[in-house]
Amino acid sequence: MSKFSCVDTVGILTSGGDAPGMNAAIRAVARTAWARGVQVKGIMRGYSGLLNGEIFDMDKKFTHSISSKGGTVLYTARCEEFKEREYQEKAAEICRENNIDGLIVIGGDGSFRGAQKMAEQGINTVGLPGTIDLDIACTEYTIGFDTAVNTAMQAIDKIHDTSASHERCSIVEVMGRSAGYIALWCGIATGAQDIIIPERFDGNRPSLEAKLIEHVLNMKTNGRGHHMIINAEGIGHSYGMAKRIEEATGVETRATILGYMQRGGSPTAKDRVYAANMGALSVDLLCAGATNRVVGYRNGQYVDYDIEDALGMKKDVDEYEFQIAKMLGR
Ligand code: ADP
Ligand code: F6P
Repeated sequence: MSKFSCVDTVGILTSGGDAPGMNAAIRAVARTAWARGVQVKGIMRGYSGLLNGEIFDMDKKFTHSISSKGGTVLYTARCEEFKEREYQEKAAEICRENNIDGLIVIGGDGSFRGAQKMAEQGINTVGLPGTIDLDIACTEYTIGFDTAVNTAMQAIDKIHDTSASHERCSIVEVMGRSAGYIALWCGIATGAQDIIIPERFDGNRPSLEAKLIEHVLNMKTNGRGHHMIINAEGIGHSYGMAKRIEEATGVETRATILGYMQRGGSPTAKDRVYAANMGALSVDLLCAGATNRVVGYRNGQYVDYDIEDALGMKKDVDEYEFQIAKMLGR
């Protein structure tokens, strides 16, 4: 064992949806580990690759020029069977066979559940929050959110040009699973007239659409030529909504679902830097003997929590921010 560290060999994997910035985290994990005298093993394709023994000795060359790349150079996968104890035991055995005594998992809440199971199996684990959705309660920042928002914002700015030129109403649907953070940020950043997010939706679609229709008609009466609605994936139904708004208002209405372009692309400086800092911290936690932890960012500081505590936390969009966003669109 290294005289600097409680672990000898760190394994790293990415799991769940890919997110821009994951590669900067991988690079920081590897280089921090080497600086501490710890070996690094890359694990391909998340828990699925771990179960298949897709494990290699990472060298410095592997980490060259990866921070600017989107996606994850370790590839990612979802692996249903890993939810079963039998496969968790097998994964821990494979770690031991490969001398992996510390495991870093970059992913979302589901991936952290997996990390927790590995900790139960005696492998020291730390999770890093990687998802464009920002839907991890213990942290105000997740790797990939900043890039995704900037990518979506630029696309919406382009759609805005056409919408304004044709004096149309546009509905742009952004990702986020059941969270509305991407929609809220895009709505504020592009000056949208309406932002619809799951956190503030009571399930009554006719009432939601009636409010949108009233707003589009008001804007039309006041001589406003176009109208931008940012709709979160968790609300969905953008095409149907566009059809009904056009029928009710007489304003030509188009829907665009941005889709996977939001997951890709070169990460922003923020995603590279925060991911790098979190990656380094995850190694230092393992070196100090920590396990079953997840790294987060709160109140301007990098922090870490017990995985169970982290998964038990709740968060919501800031009500003041949401009200301001609504007011700015009026
Ligand atoms: P995310 O990590 O982005 O939330 P998922 O929910 O799809 O994505 O989880 C990613 C992977 O984490 C799953 O495919 C599975 O391998 C593992 N996982 C999810 N939930 C559990 C669980 N309860 N126990 C063990 N592993 C889990
Ligand atoms: O979690 C990231 C995300 O892109 C969500 O915004 C979206 O709901 C989901 O993943 C899509 O997952 P998949 O890649 O399985 O289609």
